[in-house]
Amino acid sequence: MKQPVTIKKHEGKLGILLPGMGAVATTTIAGALLARKGKGTPIGSLTQMGTIRLGKRTENRAPFIKDFLKLPSLDDVAFGGWDLFPDSAYESAKHAEVLTNEHLDEVKGELEAIKPMPAVFYPEYVKRLHGTHVKKGADKWEMAQQVETDIQTFLKTNGCTRGVAVWCGSTEVYIEPSAVHQSLKAFEDGLKNNDPGISNSQIYAYACLKQNVPFANGAPNLSVDMPAIWELARERSVPISGKDFKTGQTWMKTILAPGLKARMLGLRGWFSTNILGNRDGEVLDDPESFKSKEVSKLGVLEHILQPSKYKELYGNIYHKVRIEYYPPRGDAKEGWDNLDIFGWLGYPMQIKVDFLCRDSILAAPLVLDLALLMDLGSRAGFHGIQEWLSFYFKSPMHAPGLYPEHDLFIQSMKLKNTMRWMMGEELITHLGNEYYD
Ligand SMILES: NC(=O)c1ccc[n+]([C@@H]2O[C@H](COP(=O)([O-])OP(=O)(O)OC[C@H]3O[C@@H](n4cnc5c(N)ncnc54)[C@H](O)[C@@H]3O)[C@@H](O)[C@H]2O)c1
Repeated sequence: MKQPVTIKKHEGKLGILLPGMGAVATTTIAGALLARKGKGTPIGSLTQMGTIRLGKRTENRAPFIKDFLKLPSLDDVAFGGWDLFPDSAYESAKHAEVLTNEHLDEVKGELEAIKPMPAVFYPEYVKRLHGTHVKKGADKWEMAQQVETDIQTFLKTNGCTRGVAVWCGSTEVYIEPSAVHQSLKAFEDGLKNNDPGISNSQIYAYACLKQNVPFANGAPNLSVDMPAIWELARERSVPISGKDFKTGQTWMKTILAPGLKARMLGLRGWFSTNILGNRDGEVLDDPESFKSKEVSKLGVLEHILQPSKYKELYGNIYHKVRIEYYPPRGDAKEGWDNLDIFGWLGYPMQIKVDFLCRDSILAAPLVLDLALLMDLGSRAGFHGIQEWLSFYFKSPMHAPGLYPEHDLFIQSMKLKNTMRWMMGEELITHLGNEYYD
């Protein structure tokens, strides 16, 4: 198959910009630096560990994804970001208590050299945080200009030829799209008028796209999920993706729910609760930030189980999600799930899941993959919403009029088939030909 797109070769360094340099961002940076030195293995990262089958099973072709896609190596990336606390990546990682001193000390010098740029921070969007390392500006428009200058300076100082951003900042309060989000013109006017519908993350997203920097959103905030930003992404020909990294409980949910559906087993109720004690947990303790997360977590089952098609099996589900801030746990979250299911003739059964996970350990590989794949997409001329990256998100953005794909296995197939397609390889349908040859 002829390669349908031309992928620009990567030359020079890729700047990976992380607005929000807390637990997830610093775990990502430290992990990538450790992997670069051969002092750690980037487990959980498809781009670093995964292979991809090409052609027929008999051909035995399964290269590593990073070789197949000719991705930049970890030596070819530079990390930067913004935060409202002035702590270096080293200090922030120490505070987050995700990685041990043994790991952090191996890359201490490099982490100390990564200092956050001052944040755009209007506190009404993240009510639990109070930081001092923040920009000053007359209005939101001026703030966006400052972020654009930061990007230019960062790329130049770090010898980068291009950048990519992954939002690792706190979850903002829930905002419904309003008039200001409906067109680029309305949005730009809104920046100048300090429209309350424009949050911090939206200002970063706007500035990144203006600088041709692809933007992936790891939190459930609106950020790039609105017509104004879609218009800008189209105009600048830049990829965007989101929302909300699919890590612990929702990742489990999108594994289990397709399993029930594949076997036509019924579901009556799904109760999910979490305890976590990191800064993310503290922010989510605010009901308005929790609302953003709740909406993102709740949407999953509806789309996988299609209750309107399967009324008898899934037409009457009680789905509840809770997050409790519990400081003693730090980043080591515990997610409990209780599923009330039913089988043959309606007989009830239960499934219990107790996932003792580590939030940032699960999220870090997704940040790295997203940065490398968004950059690849950009070099391949992809722009707008990158549905092929739905695999990474709890609440995948999708084209207007379509529905999101939540099933992890369909997402994985879509991701890998897009990789095959962009490199001019046959798509894999898993249709055997032994039956009709
Ligand atoms: N860890 C996971 O498994 C996971 C999964 C899905 C989504 N997320 C999301 O990823 C984000 C990061 O999670 P975390 O555990 O690193 O949280 P964290 O609280 O440790 O880090 C977030 C950082 O963002 C900073 N921040 C907030 N607003 C900012 C702004 N306007 N500009 C710059 N910095 C800002 C905070 O000061 C903080 O340092 C959160 O929104 C979280 O909900 C995490």
